[in-house]
Formats: sequence, structure tokens, C-alpha cells
Amino acid sequence: MAGPIIIGNWKMNGLTKDADHIISALLTYSNNHKNFAKTVVCPPFTQLQHVKELIKNTPYGLGAQDCHVASKGAHTGDIAADMIKDLGAEYVIVGHSERRKDHSETDQLILQKTQAAQSSGLLPVVCIGETKEERESGQYKEVIATQIKGSLPSEFKGLVAYEPVWAIGTGISAKNEDIAEVIEFIREKLIAQYGENGKKTPILYGGSVKPNNVKDIFAIAELGGVLVGGVSLIPEDFLQLVNIAQ
Ligand code: G3P
Repeated sequence: MAGPIIIGNWKMNGLTKDADHIISALLTYSNNHKNFAKTVVCPPFTQLQHVKELIKNTPYGLGAQDCHVASKGAHTGDIAADMIKDLGAEYVIVGHSERRKDHSETDQLILQKTQAAQSSGLLPVVCIGETKEERESGQYKEVIATQIKGSLPSEFKGLVAYEPVWAIGTGISAKNEDIAEVIEFIREKLIAQYGENGKKTPILYGGSVKPNNVKDIFAIAELGGVLVGGVSLIPEDFLQLVNIAQ
């Protein structure tokens, strides 16, 4: 199995000068290192074209942070998966907990977005995860099972990112044993839903991944990579994750 994938979710951050600063460090790294872990950057829409140009002819991948369910039409301000694909991106994050919260995105909507992404040839990174209340009440497995069943299509070609909402942006990741337990549970559900194919779906972890905790996180069985927020904006730290993933 290939090594872990590292996906940097810039969220709503990054003017051109910031993109230049981050990508300049990544270019220096790729000029001096070969065969490193699959590394993907997901800038805001406004920087996708620019970053695409900057990373041309490098091993870095490009992703978007969302897509609309429709392929085109009267959806002012929205971006279709085909447009993201046309621009040259490979991935799209779908159903991030911040969108579930800010835009009341439901499992049904996330399913439709995932289908749109796959139809356009993008790899959807579908985010699931429980809130603090759901964790503390012990309902987290039920919540995750419902999200998997409701958000993933009958044929799934993407990646799943387990992001416990309570670990996002806090600086404190979930405990390794909790991550391991949920990833194993997700794998079981994927196999139940997709048979043998369910064994191949990469399962990522996201939630305060940092250089000082990523080595232990990478050691978790069945972990396929990490989805990184804050650290993706600090190139020195982000590249430390890449180094550790070797
Ligand atoms: O999508 C990744 C993000 O939700 C994790 O954010 O800042 O906790 O790494 P952060």
C-alpha cells in the first residue's frame, strides 16, 4: 500500500502573497527531495488557478474545498465539480464539518456533491466525524455509521476523512487509541457497504495534526493519511509532516 497522503486544507485563508510564500517553500522542498509522500494543497477557490500554475511539473496535487451538486446553471456564486476538474485539480473536499455547520449541509447533500465530484473525475475527500456532545454521550459510532451510510454513494471512488469536530482547530488531536478505534470501525462499515472495495478506500485523520503528533498518528493501522488545517498554512511545519511521512 502506498505511503500516507497529506492533504492541506487552507480553509478561508490565502491571498496571492500567502500562496506564493507557502508554495515557494514547497517548491524548494520538491527540488531537493524525490519520492516523498503524496502531498496535496487545497487553497481557496480564488487561488486555485494561481497555485495550479505554481505547482505545474511538480509532484504536488491540487484540490478544492467544496463543489456544487449541479454541473452548471443558475447557482450564483457556486462552483461546479466540472469547473474544478477543468482547472486541473484532482481532489475536492466534501462535507467538511465547517460546511455542515455554516451551510447546514446534510448527508443527502453531501452524497449529491460526492456523486457530482466523481462524475467529473475528481476524487472526493468526504469528511465525517462526531461533535463533542456526540463523543461525550457515547453516540459517536452511531453518528459515524449514519454519516457513512448517508453520505457515500453506491459506488465510492474517493477518500474518507475522519475529523472529530472537537479536535479541529483546538491544537489537541484525538488520542491515538480513539483514532484507531474509529478508523477500524469506519473500515468495517466500508467493507460492509462495498465488499472487497471497502478495503481499499483510504481513511484519513484530521483534527490538530502537528509535527509533534503526526508520527504516532501515521503509525495507526489502516490510516491512509492526514487532512491538515492550520499547519498547512505554515510551510515549515507542513513540510515536517511530509518529511515524517517518508
Ligand atoms: O480539514 C482539516 C481541518 O479540519 C483540520 O484543521 O487546524 O485542526 O488541522 P486543524
